[in-house]
Amino acid sequence: MKKIFLVLSILVSAIAFSQTGTDSKMHVFVSSLMKKMTLSEKIGQLNLLTPGGDVNTGTVVSRDVEKKIIEGNVGGLFGVTGVDKIKTAQDIAVKQSRLKIPLLFGSDIIHGYKTIFPIPLGLSCSWDMKIIEQTARMAAIEATADGLCWNFSPMVDIARDPRWGRMAEGSGEDPYLGSQVAIAMVNGYQGYDLAKNNTLMACVKHFALYGAAEAGRDYNTTDMSRVRMYNEYLPPYKAAINAGAGSMMSSFNEIDGIPATGNKWLLTDLLRKQWGFRGFVVSDYTSVNEMMAHGMGDLQTVSALSLKAGLDMDMVGEGFLMTLKKSLQEKKVTISEIDQACRRILEAKYKLGLFDDPYRYIDPTRPAKEILTAQNRKEAREIAARSFVLLKNNNQTLPLKKTGVIALIGPLADDQNNMLGTWAVSGDSKLSVSVLNGIKNAAGSQVNILYAKGANISDDTLFAKKVNVFGTRIDIDKRTPAEMLNEALEIANKSDVVVAVVGEASEMSGESASRTDITLPESQKKLIRALVSTGKPVVLVMMSGRPLALVEENTLATSILQVWHAGTEAGNAIADVLFGNYNPSGKLSVTFPRNVGQVPIYYSQKNTGRPSVGDAPKFLSNYLDVPNTPLFPFGYGLSYTSFSYSEIKLNKTSMKMNESITASVTITNTGKYDGEEVVQLYIRDLVGSITRPVKELKGFQKIKLKAGESKQVSFSIDVNDLKFYNSELKFVSEPGDFILFIGTNSNDVKEKGFKLE
Ligand code: BGC
Repeated sequence: MKKIFLVLSILVSAIAFSQTGTDSKMHVFVSSLMKKMTLSEKIGQLNLLTPGGDVNTGTVVSRDVEKKIIEGNVGGLFGVTGVDKIKTAQDIAVKQSRLKIPLLFGSDIIHGYKTIFPIPLGLSCSWDMKIIEQTARMAAIEATADGLCWNFSPMVDIARDPRWGRMAEGSGEDPYLGSQVAIAMVNGYQGYDLAKNNTLMACVKHFALYGAAEAGRDYNTTDMSRVRMYNEYLPPYKAAINAGAGSMMSSFNEIDGIPATGNKWLLTDLLRKQWGFRGFVVSDYTSVNEMMAHGMGDLQTVSALSLKAGLDMDMVGEGFLMTLKKSLQEKKVTISEIDQACRRILEAKYKLGLFDDPYRYIDPTRPAKEILTAQNRKEAREIAARSFVLLKNNNQTLPLKKTGVIALIGPLADDQNNMLGTWAVSGDSKLSVSVLNGIKNAAGSQVNILYAKGANISDDTLFAKKVNVFGTRIDIDKRTPAEMLNEALEIANKSDVVVAVVGEASEMSGESASRTDITLPESQKKLIRALVSTGKPVVLVMMSGRPLALVEENTLATSILQVWHAGTEAGNAIADVLFGNYNPSGKLSVTFPRNVGQVPIYYSQKNTGRPSVGDAPKFLSNYLDVPNTPLFPFGYGLSYTSFSYSEIKLNKTSMKMNESITASVTITNTGKYDGEEVVQLYIRDLVGSITRPVKELKGFQKIKLKAGESKQVSFSIDVNDLKFYNSELKFVSEPGDFILFIGTNSNDVKEKGFKLE
């Protein structure tokens, strides 16, 4: 044992030594380069531009980019893709600028590059870190094959308000699950060597608390206590940093009254001093300039404020470029602040291997071999199937039989434009598989498939115009709604089962896509009501980038399969699940409310002084009109088979601070199909120096069970699982009574008490 320890410690110090070795080599290199740089060239490195690509999320697009690169006024570009274009831009930097410093090339590769995977919210519902890491790895391979080296992902903002459209880009409501996903994605993008030509530098966003925008309105104010920040909202950012993420993006919102982009407490005290982050921080799109609208002063003032706060790179706004020199002359910033930011950008370029070879990511032979390969598409199909959540399945209507007549109806049934989901900037919707085609591919010769559109996604032309900003997503039909409905009813009446593919267009969620009404648009509600009135079983395939309020649909439909926006292989993956080639195993990473009035709603709520009890009387913490409970709780998801849980066994009921407890349950597949189950561990701290949530996720395991098979699953709980940030923001554990829960979702659990001595 001693020997192993010795070998281990030699190994660890050897790794640490070589790390320091690289660090000091990098330091020497960057220092000697910086000695040659003029002040303008240093400030130039802090400037990130976009020459105007496919997606501009602000109103500004950079001008005179080529001239600025030649003059040494640009540190990096984004919105430029493809080996040829990137090579042209890199050529300008390394051949025509005085010091030949290579550029960084960034992009938003949020859920796949050209092979598009499900939106991140969907991916997180797989609770499968291996496949999530794999999506990031594949995205990195494809994107680097196309010349990119830096990725504005993962987005790790905790989101508990489905009005906020950007919930689609993250991993839902829970800090523990969110942290696991953040780690998996950073590892997938960055691999173990950033200088390899198939790894991307991750950029963790949006730091911080962007998901807590008031009223779910994008770019809106956030305001929360430090205790909540530390315990609930900050863990995923910290986990991503600990996993080695090379860069961070500051968020649009304010924190404690100071916009994140200029917030010194956030970008320096917390991020660098407390957490030890050593990469660089880039602003969000024009978020330096937006501090003027926030009411923080003119461009010179907000630029100086941001630099002094710890921001290193200015995205698009050019406030740094235009004002830092003047601020230095007027002693509003120091040269060491400029140097520090410049050093961090140059270090990133060094870590990516760009000084060794600025064309490292530019190999014209790679795209054809590595992008959108048959293997990538195959994996995208399998992964998509794992992100779906079966919300309801009465009478085992699913899986569908491969015989008889299926009426496939709905505005999203024969659609390619919405399959990729939001933030699929490099994806090509023409390559995506519609549900109609997926079902045709899978059904075989015994099934007769009838198709009708049935309704528009929405009949509201103004709404459609806003959603269609990147191209047609809501296609309002030339026929009247009544004509479409009649056609749908005609085929529904001839069928054995109706499959209705409904939900949100891809751009009804994502950036700047907040909604105050999170129900299905009325056009689709009417369609569903009419289809149900035929008396046929109605299966809803529900696409959305957020939890929708589905109370009525849940009452009417026989089955509901939540499929998010599933990517390039959407249609095939949906068909795989509908026909039972894959037994659904996804679990919700976010609570589904009954109505928008319940939001923000999340399972790890506080008990309050007047906890509600069932159908509660007055003067308890509840509503007059709906119960407190959600429609579908966090962690929820059905399978075609069923699972039973034994009582929990603990190896002891009390533990000391330096001990651990093992909790075990036996899970049995009691149904007819082989299946997978996500076994979830929650803990409640019954008494604390601050109030503690009624449950917190502390572990999960995804297991496979054949029909009839049983498996024992064990979790080990130690003092770290019981720690939290107290009112002095110290990370502590407090002795006392705890409840441990294990179950199939956050609501349906077995429980056992234990003590921490
Ligand atoms: C978004 C970021 C994104 C950036 C660059 C902004 O509008 O908030 O998430 O990375 O644009 O495209």
